[in-house]
Amino acid sequence: MSALDRNVQMKLSNYYRVFLGDPARLVAHQEGIRLLREDVESLEDCWNAEEEAGISGLDLPRSQAEFLEWYLMFEKKMNADIQYFIDYMRCCASAEEVAYYICMEEMVDGSFDDLMAMVQLGMPINCKMIAGENYWDEMGGGDYSAVHTTMFKTSSAYMRRILNGKDVSIDSPSTECLMNGNILLMWALRREYNIRLVGAMGLVEGSAPVRFGATTAAMERLGLPKEVVAYHKAHISIDTHHSRAWYESLLKHYSSCGGAVLRELALGVSIRYNVAIRYYKYMYGAMRSLS
Ligand SMILES: [Fe+2]
Ligand SMILES: [Fe+2]
Repeated sequence: MSALDRNVQMKLSNYYRVFLGDPARLVAHQEGIRLLREDVESLEDCWNAEEEAGISGLDLPRSQAEFLEWYLMFEKKMNADIQYFIDYMRCCASAEEVAYYICMEEMVDGSFDDLMAMVQLGMPINCKMIAGENYWDEMGGGDYSAVHTTMFKTSSAYMRRILNGKDVSIDSPSTECLMNGNILLMWALRREYNIRLVGAMGLVEGSAPVRFGATTAAMERLGLPKEVVAYHKAHISIDTHHSRAWYESLLKHYSSCGGAVLRELALGVSIRYNVAIRYYKYMYGAMRSLS
């Protein structure tokens, strides 16, 4: 069975949800988690191998200078290749189409603070400081009402009510949606793949402001309340800052750590790109099918 199969992705998603849940709840799952781990790791290994095969024809950068230029090109390419999605979101998407997108995005953004907490383990202090600042931003700088996951939940809860009113189900996410969240969680939990996560997080944040800009424009066009738009609007500038800092410190540092590390960093960027492209292609079709 391919790791791109929905049952595999659902299994991984369920495992990550339990594994990254409240530690108090994990107590009841000690035995279950231990029994599942071997199976999960073998599915993850298959998935990594399949994604690596998917980029085998790609000419990966071989030096720091090559990587930094290649990375910036990828950041632009990401949004250029989903321009159809961005344009549709900005100009045409209905309230229920925007709502569907936001509810599915929760699969990534809903655990972004935990990803940011995990990615910084063991890093040298100059990198850890940047990831730590990013994490503290996620925590709203200590202000409970400004915690990003809380702001996001305010938005997604409102959008879910729109979908409920229209009888649109979001309880059964597609394979592409599951993969979009799972790939980051897998690389965070499997510490031997943390460098892929560093590359992928760069691309996630570096390409986000354009999409947040389009989503904000759509929500304002639809006249949604300020508090519902707040998360997306704030992230246009927040993620511009985050991605610049990530590039200047983490990507510059790790791309100078030798060929093997450089390759992992580039794999993280290019595999994340492929997973995201499949996700937006699916999302565009799913949104259009609602109207
Ligand atoms: Fe955030
Ligand atoms: Fe961010």
